[in-house]
Amino acid sequence: MASVAVLGYGTVGSGVVEVLQKNADEITRKSGVRIDVKYILDIREFPGDPNENAIVHDFAVIESDPEVKVVAEAMGGLHPAYDFTRRALEAGKSVCTSNKELVAEFGTELTQIAAQHGVSYLYEASCGGGIPIIRPLRNALTADVITGLSGIFNGTTNFILTRMEKEGHDYADVLAEAQAMGYAERNPAADVEGYDTCRKLAILASLAYGVQISYKDIRTEGITKVTAADIAYASFLQYKIKLLGISRRSGDRVEAVVLPAMIGCDTPLYAVDDVFNAILVRGNMLDDVMFYGKGAGKLPTGSAVASDVIEAVVSGGKCGILPQGEPAVPVDPETMSYRFFVRIPENTDATQEKVSAVFEDASLINLEEYPQESAFVTGVMTEKEFTEKVAGLGSVTGWIRILPAE
Ligand code: HSE
Repeated sequence: MASVAVLGYGTVGSGVVEVLQKNADEITRKSGVRIDVKYILDIREFPGDPNENAIVHDFAVIESDPEVKVVAEAMGGLHPAYDFTRRALEAGKSVCTSNKELVAEFGTELTQIAAQHGVSYLYEASCGGGIPIIRPLRNALTADVITGLSGIFNGTTNFILTRMEKEGHDYADVLAEAQAMGYAERNPAADVEGYDTCRKLAILASLAYGVQISYKDIRTEGITKVTAADIAYASFLQYKIKLLGISRRSGDRVEAVVLPAMIGCDTPLYAVDDVFNAILVRGNMLDDVMFYGKGAGKLPTGSAVASDVIEAVVSGGKCGILPQGEPAVPVDPETMSYRFFVRIPENTDATQEKVSAVFEDASLINLEEYPQESAFVTGVMTEKEFTEKVAGLGSVTGWIRILPAE
């Protein structure tokens, strides 16, 4: 019997407990160990809950219990999650977490502390919810040099963009629906402004490339400026708009950005809709491989944390993620290349000539629903070149990058 503690009995914490208890027999069959949730730390009481007797309010109870070898942290936020994680590791307990904010900010330090104490800091659930991605990066893709890692890492924004596209719903209505379904973060800005995607990209790209990539170095744009008109033009062009985390490595240089982009059916990310996430990894031998599944939700995320708990229990805490190498050299995002979709607030006989004077090969697109404006697609160019050129048009309604560039 192995005793574990769960910190936080909210959506994810209760999911971890449910997975460990509901699948207890199967987990024992596969791992050879019986896992018992001895403590659940929460500030609230849960009268009538089947785990009522496991609830504790003082972390010191868990910290000082030598029977507890593994702690699942599902509190979210930086504090006190950081302090409890550190204390647990220093007390010789492995910690498994779903907390991407904490991993992105303090993951390197906590991984080092874990290594110093002969235990593990595991965070499978911090990226892609229930999708196994960190374990494959650690264990299965070790023979390859990973040269690219991109994807759709946020279920809420993917759900919003899918509903906007399929049902023509407004952004605000779909956001409320996503929150009601438990996908969105408490503060929706983390999702819709792209911060959640940015943290997940930093975590995954660091692991994939073996260098430290700070989320603070990743230029991040969310989906709040994407309009129903953008989506209508994207559909006309047979594209979808997706919030992407994109990274590429060349030597010690790493390109990494988070942005909404139009993508076509030539990328498998095109088919990733609703709350689903997908991570596309490119290896120098393997070529492309994609990981797809539910990126959010109580049980998928609980399942990912539980898988770390089982690994930590079975390995006696000796399964740790290795600390990453040197900090990466970030590439200036202005040097990255795309094609660009542009809308301008005019539709006259002179518009084509005006656009062609700046973007030679661009032909105008006019949709009946938007008679007062025109749109066009540019050739491939760097973002710097584009922003300089587009300034020559005067006012534009908006623009969106198109990927892949070629
Ligand atoms: N809010 C996140 C999402 C939850 O929508 O993907 C999982 O990290």
